Amino acid sequence: MSRFDFETLLKEAESFSAESKEQLENFRLRFLSKKGILSELFSKMKDVEPAQRKAFGQQINTLKKKIEERFEEFRYLYDQPVVTSVPADVTLPGEAFLTGSHHPVNLVRKKIIHLFSHIGFNISEGPEIEDDWHNFSALNFPEDHPARDMQDTFFILGENAAAAESFALRTHTSSVQVRVMETTKPPVRTISPGRVYRNEAISARAHCFFHQVEGLYIDEDVSFADLKQTLLYFAREMFGSDSEIRLRPSYFPFTEPSAEMDVSCFLCKGKGCNVCKHTGWVEILGCGMVHPNVLDNCKIDSTKFTGFAFGMGIERIAMLLYGINDLRLFSQNDVRFLQQFAGI
Ligand code: DAH
Repeated sequence: MSRFDFETLLKEAESFSAESKEQLENFRLRFLSKKGILSELFSKMKDVEPAQRKAFGQQINTLKKKIEERFEEFRYLYDQPVVTSVPADVTLPGEAFLTGSHHPVNLVRKKIIHLFSHIGFNISEGPEIEDDWHNFSALNFPEDHPARDMQDTFFILGENAAAAESFALRTHTSSVQVRVMETTKPPVRTISPGRVYRNEAISARAHCFFHQVEGLYIDEDVSFADLKQTLLYFAREMFGSDSEIRLRPSYFPFTEPSAEMDVSCFLCKGKGCNVCKHTGWVEILGCGMVHPNVLDNCKIDSTKFTGFAFGMGIERIAMLLYGINDLRLFSQNDVRFLQQFAGI
């Protein structure tokens, strides 16, 4: 018999069964090794008459397939790890899965959304890359007015100088109130959570990005008393039912009058501690009555409608609630920090 009688070789492969690892190794050496039958057959291809080359090639491939099949079948059998150790003790407790936790920024964001959705506010969102109109001009920041310097801005450079100043990373979520007012007819009752960016040196107290929630309420006859009542509701739900608020006059270009809201210190209950710097109050947010210019800019009739707005930093509230003293912890992804919020 010729060494290359395909029929016989095929039969040999088909009927092969390895009773030991050595037998399997011999099979591999005979057929699959570098000097084995298959590789010899492939090298013979070039000597075959061109007319018969295709048929020859097909025969080799059929044989190769069968050989590999048999080899894999037994290799799988003999490659199984040999269990020599003591069987597992099934009475031992299992290994617990590590559970994830919610990020503190998310916990506070969700709570704020939840509280305001209870009193009829919906959620709105806007882009983080914003144009000058929505971030500044429509909000009554005049061109070249120092008020623009209140917030250090990351401008996005365009191809020419004019485009250079027309886009920026939004410095506050107040830009979303403009987008909502431009597209919604009053009554408007919305909160806009989102990330904002400022060109600040990173430290324990400042970061180049953080999160805010903006609130906006526009309707006929909305008054400062409505603003106060809404904020009192928020403060009591967020910081405890015995919380008090106080409003201090302030300045924002987009509100008139404007105020900062403080909440009575929920840690020392007004006695004085490090968190409230011994004043009994902690600053929480900025707010005010929407400036008529802003309403007009958004094509809302300022002779008919009034509204209030407020804006707060989520990290700031999380720091107060959870006693976090370094803003950088929120973005470092240190599991030792994050794990402390598991189960909250
Ligand atoms: N946009 C302000 C900031 O980033 C926060 C703010 C203050 C928002 C007063 C308001 C507001 O809507 O009425 O500092």
